[in-house]
This record gives sequence, structure tokens and C-alpha cells, in this order.
Amino acid sequence: MIISLIGFMGAGKTTLGKELGKSLGAPVIDLDEYIEEYEGKKISEIFSESSEAGFRQIELNCFENILEEHISENPDTLEDFTRCTLVISLGGGIVTTPECRDLISRFTYCVYLKCDLDTIFSRLDGNTDNRALLAGQQGESLRSSIERIFAEREGYYLSLANKII
Ligand code: S3P
Repeated sequence: MIISLIGFMGAGKTTLGKELGKSLGAPVIDLDEYIEEYEGKKISEIFSESSEAGFRQIELNCFENILEEHISENPDTLEDFTRCTLVISLGGGIVTTPECRDLISRFTYCVYLKCDLDTIFSRLDGNTDNRALLAGQQGESLRSSIERIFAEREGYYLSLANKII
């Protein structure tokens, strides 16, 4: 099975993904890191050169590549935790792309890292450089952007989750 981690920016997907991979003895891929390597550019550069729509297309292509490489090894073991073949930490906005939602629910056991907005705000305030959608924002402006974007996504996070932590 493939375990995917979803959740808002700052929820801890990258950190927890690495820990989970270690304890399950499974490889770990962080999709943002994969995209940066694949494109040879920082996420922020991709956003400024290609806008969010361009980034979402690249994000989908990279997610498909990764799944294609891993799915065939264990096609029907979605619930088998003893045979986890991959842990993948996904970007916070991947759930806004319908094709990605479809891939997440068909091919992964999806864990939603639910995090309250005050915690997210305190983690992101002063730390938005690699978060293209929030870059340069702080204080009240950052808080209201977080609330708005989270409200747009929360339903997707909840409906995709096989497990909520
Ligand atoms: C994004 C989250 C980022 C990254 C990109 C867009 C988003 O990943 O994919 O900046 O739209 O929420 P993290 O959730 O790992 O910060």
C-alpha cells in the first residue's frame, strides 16, 4: 500500500512522513521536493513563471509519475500496513485538482493531518518564503488568507481521509 499525507501548509506532512517511513521501513517521497528536483527550480520560481495553474499541472504530472513507479509492485494491498511500499507527503493544495483527488482516493491510504488554525498561523507567521500562496504575508493579512484558503479546502481534506490525525 501507499500512504499519502495531506493537510494544510504547516501541518507537519514532511516531518511526519519522514518519521512514518522510518518506522514502517518504507521509502518516503516529499512531492514538493520531488517537483523541485524534477523541474530544477524552487516552487516559488515555478509559481512566478507559470502561475498557480502551471504549478498544479506539474504537481499532477509528478504525482502520476510517482504512482506509476510504485503502484504495480502491490496493486491490491490498500489496507495492508505491513506492506507499505511508499509514504508520500503531498503539498497542501493538491486537493484542489480533481485528477489528484481521484488518484489519492484510488491508489493511496490517505491520512489527513488536521491542525488547528492558530497552530498553523504560529508556524507560518514569518516563515512563508517557500509557501508561494502566502509569500510576503504576515500578521492579520496572513491569518485571513489562511482562513480563506483553509475554508476552500477543508471539505476535500475530510472527504479524502481514510484516517484523520
Ligand atoms: C501549497 C503548499 C506547498 C506547496 C506550494 C503550494 C498550497 O506545500 O506545494 O507552495 O497550495 O497549499 P506544503 O503544504 O508542503 O507547504
